[in-house]
Amino acid sequence: MNSKDIIERIKVYVYKQLEHEETGHDKWHIERVRKLAVFIAEKENANLFIVELAAILHDLIDDKVNESIRIDIQDVELLLKMQEVNEEDRNKVLTIIDSISFRKKIDQKELSLEGKIVQDADRLDAIGAIGIARTFSFSGSRGQIIYDPEQKNEHHAIQHFYDKLLKLKDLMNTETARHIAEERHLFLQNYLKQFYSEWNGTLD
Ligand code: ADP
Ligand code: NI
Repeated sequence: MNSKDIIERIKVYVYKQLEHEETGHDKWHIERVRKLAVFIAEKENANLFIVELAAILHDLIDDKVNESIRIDIQDVELLLKMQEVNEEDRNKVLTIIDSISFRKKIDQKELSLEGKIVQDADRLDAIGAIGIARTFSFSGSRGQIIYDPEQKNEHHAIQHFYDKLLKLKDLMNTETARHIAEERHLFLQNYLKQFYSEWNGTLD
């Protein structure tokens, strides 16, 4: 089987599996990450097959994904085997998704170039306009309010900008991702400026 067919078959399986995912790891998140990862991989001269496969599979084993949807790493291995992915490539893909999916505190130097790219693509989908949308969606699903200027609520959506989103630009592994992150970071900053100005009601 050629690599295009392998990717297509695995994509069909994963997207079907994630059809009813509601924690922000739905198939459209995967599709955005896949596209971004392939774009970065082309610029960074990485192995496109490994990057694309790992991007498609990156959230399937995450403990945040609904239990009825999540599969374990052995099942991913079986899936790859069934699609005739050779052992060397299987191991490369499995190492990547195992390292990034659980948000383990792994040393980024330990990630392969392909792993770094998938991680960058995943992080890019957490910033910019889509990142903001995902933040409010996640927050809402946890019953959090959008903002609390008195900080009486420990968790509100705006807090997540400071806890995570604004830090991601400096955590990018590749030059290509850093470039994309800069624009999205600026968008986050402008968004916050507008948010506070509306909140504080500075009307003419
Ligand atoms: P992924 O595994 O795809 O990187 P996460 O599982 O960490 O993403 O989070 C899914 C989405 O929800 C991301 O956009 C992330 O920024 C957002 N998110 C995660 N934790 C919180 C939180 N405590 N409050 C608001 N948004 C959150
Ligand atoms: Ni993800």
